[in-house]
Amino acid sequence: MASSEDTAATVTATAKKEALGWMEWLRGWFYLACEMLFQRIMASHLQNPMPLPPLNDLTCIITGSTSGIGRETARQMAESGAHVVMAVRNTKVAHELIRKWQDEWSGRGLPLNIEVMELDLLSLASVVRFSEAWNARSGPLHVLINNAGIFSIGEPQKFSKDGYEEHMQVNHLAPALLSVLLLPSLIRGSPSRIVNVNSIMHQVGFVDPEDMNVVSGKRKFTSLVGYSSSKLAQVMFSSVLHKKLPAEAGVSVICVSPGIVQTNVARDLPSIVQAGYRLIPYFIFSAEEGSRSSLFAASDPQIPEYCEMLKADEWPVCAFISQDCRPTNPSEEAHNVETASKVWEKTLQMVGLPLDAVEKLIEGEDVKCKYEAHVD
Ligand SMILES: NC(=O)c1ccc[n+]([C@@H]2O[C@H](COP(=O)([O-])OP(=O)(O)OC[C@H]3O[C@@H](n4cnc5c(N)ncnc54)[C@H](OP(=O)(O)O)[C@@H]3O)[C@@H](O)[C@H]2O)c1
Repeated sequence: MASSEDTAATVTATAKKEALGWMEWLRGWFYLACEMLFQRIMASHLQNPMPLPPLNDLTCIITGSTSGIGRETARQMAESGAHVVMAVRNTKVAHELIRKWQDEWSGRGLPLNIEVMELDLLSLASVVRFSEAWNARSGPLHVLINNAGIFSIGEPQKFSKDGYEEHMQVNHLAPALLSVLLLPSLIRGSPSRIVNVNSIMHQVGFVDPEDMNVVSGKRKFTSLVGYSSSKLAQVMFSSVLHKKLPAEAGVSVICVSPGIVQTNVARDLPSIVQAGYRLIPYFIFSAEEGSRSSLFAASDPQIPEYCEMLKADEWPVCAFISQDCRPTNPSEEAHNVETASKVWEKTLQMVGLPLDAVEKLIEGEDVKCKYEAHVD
């Protein structure tokens, strides 16, 4: 018969973790403070802009490329010869940007090869429409950069039309759906890459797979909770995807941290705080500096080999490249394989995909998404 001590031990072992431990939380904030204060020193070996190899053979989809880091990433990849697809919700702004870039570029080489496609990550039906339109071309996709993101600082909790907390939908659920649905094109373009623009803030994130919307009342919602949880969920999902993709598929999955970057991400802050933000340029990266980790992950020739090495070593997390373009280790919680597996299942369920979607797509089979027939 089990003793009361055994029973207590079992209860402790199976007790559900409801938040980060104090040490994990303090460590997370310590890493965040270090990034804020020392990112420029840590990245002092990098050139700005980052020199890129010729990318003429690459087709690259970049979400959220009308502003900040995504906009810089798109411009630089196009100037290096890549066929860039700006996947954006404001197509007018994207067309204006292309005109401006073409004018500035004229005479320096071939015309830029950029196109615009509409994508609103607050609508899972829009993600399905985008993926169907892209896959229907039956062409290769070499790089998908899931860059678009929101951090609605100080805003109350909001939900998408699909019923999901907005940070979780824009920063994790919609990019996860996009990555899975575009697998046929990525496999066609292999060796190919999925680059997820993540954040050092995942270090203070915690995900309860049974409460991805943070509505149970167990945790108080703040925009910081919404943002950091969504970024951690993305690392966990990416780690499982990385393990599920066999070497033969030739698709690498990478998360990157751009650093602390001066962009429109702080647009919801009061204007006085935004003014203060601009007064500390030494510590904060420009968008051009912030785009280096995405550009590195998208173009460095050693990335696929590094990802395969992690897989062969059965490392529990996917590749994570920090703002100084060096591989780093994501948070301790990101290594929680049990939670990561639950986040994987919950995510597929929330985005309306079957649990074996990835396996089916690798086999070349069709996969139905619940949001296919949805009209916004
Ligand atoms: N800036 C930082 O310090 C920092 C630090 C760590 C990580 N990051 C990450 O870097 C990524 C890029 O952010 P950023 O700093 O460059 O911010 P940004 O200047 O605000 O750019 C965000 C982009 O995402 C797009 N976007 C937002 N909601 C969308 C939706 N529902 N559908 C489609 N596109 C949408 C925006 O389009 P609209 O202009 O149409 O809204 C914009 O193009 C994000 O994932 C962010 O979390 C940023």
